Amino acid sequence: MEKMVIKGGSPLIGCVDVSGAKNAALPLMVAAMLTTDEMTYHRVPALRDIKTTKQLLLQLGVQLDDFTAGALRIKAREITDHTAPYELVKTMRASVLVLGPLMAREGRADVSLPGGCAIGARPIDQHLKGLEAMGASIELCNGYIQARANRLRGASLSFDMKTVTGTENLMMAATLAKGTTVLENCAREPEVSELAHVLNRMGAKIDGAGTDIITIDGVERLNGIVHEIMPDRIEAGTHLMAAAITGGDVTVKGCKAEHIESLLEKLSEAGLKIEIEENSVRVRSNGGIKSRNAETNPYPGFATDFQAQYMALMALGDSTCLISEQVFENRFMHVQELVRMGANIRISGRTASVRGVRRLSGAHVQATDLRASASLILAALAADGITEVHRVYHLDRGYERIEEKLSSLGADIRRAKDEML
Ligand code: EPU
Repeated sequence: MEKMVIKGGSPLIGCVDVSGAKNAALPLMVAAMLTTDEMTYHRVPALRDIKTTKQLLLQLGVQLDDFTAGALRIKAREITDHTAPYELVKTMRASVLVLGPLMAREGRADVSLPGGCAIGARPIDQHLKGLEAMGASIELCNGYIQARANRLRGASLSFDMKTVTGTENLMMAATLAKGTTVLENCAREPEVSELAHVLNRMGAKIDGAGTDIITIDGVERLNGIVHEIMPDRIEAGTHLMAAAITGGDVTVKGCKAEHIESLLEKLSEAGLKIEIEENSVRVRSNGGIKSRNAETNPYPGFATDFQAQYMALMALGDSTCLISEQVFENRFMHVQELVRMGANIRISGRTASVRGVRRLSGAHVQATDLRASASLILAALAADGITEVHRVYHLDRGYERIEEKLSSLGADIRRAKDEML
């Protein structure tokens, strides 16, 4: 195991490039199963979740070729297996995204049912409800969902709640179904729009992605294309919050400000100076951090994937604020670790009350999930003394070369072997 050792106190200053978006790359990789042609993706981030997805695709009989750094060719000439096994689904819940493409192309998928995880119960009932509406039979056997259909047929359904991977799964399933599918109450995240855009370029007929209602006219076949993956808005926002918490001045290049509007609004209210250019965002500290309430919500609301990092920032705010988590019911695992660093945070149900303190102090802390890890790294960058963040494998799931990027901005951060665990 590895840990990050961080000596806090230096303001981060400079420019950093954003990587390709993990949560766009994952559905796009599995969408390659919808065609027998070759798909080529550029700007694929080097992350653990990407490796896991490659492993999953290989297991299904799909051919992969990393022909140069950040570029990936995927060819699903044949699909020889239909199982997403427990070992992979338990390390990466997004493995359930193979359900849609496998059902569309093969009419058969055996996917391990994901259990609860560090951020909540996270059921996939909506994905299954959709597939059933499209004519699939679903059974649960030995912990696996067994989905079967001859050919999926178009259906109309409304999601009970906004679900990102649920919307993506059913959109992929519907591309090759017979007839028209109408999905209501869809997730509007930019990653959903990116997937629809790619599928349409492959020959699909999808209308309305980015709004609540998506209509998909099924087609007979899709073809291969070349595509560059969109920038990672969560990585971009995390670097901007690193600038804010350290009293620094950071420009994130290659990101799209319109994808992180709700975060930028909050940072501006918190007293940060924001400069937006066509392909970059700069955040500059103005001195202190003003405490400002935040509530997470589906896009275009304040992203749950920013909540933990924003809480680290508010831990150093000038008064008290409330941070409410409305997407996942248990996404406060970072709180106790921040408290170990001197933060003053109390949780009541889905709301954390964060009373700003003058300083945080370095400590040994445990990363519990991806964004919680990022929150601890941010707190450590601002804390007095040395922090050791253990279990950094969570971080490696979603932040490409993070220590390299932060070092280039002046952070004192290094990766080390972890003898403690
Ligand atoms: N939900 C259900 N039933 C379902 C599906 C979802 O009850 O069938 C609930 C969930 O339990 C949750 C809410 O609906 O309370 C929203 O979950 P959603 O399905 O949108 O989450 P997801 O698709 O599993 C994606 C991202 C997450 C991100 C969430 C919310 C990917 C691969 N993952 O997860 O990213 O937090 O949307 O925006 O796109 C991360 O990158 O760290 C991460 C966790």
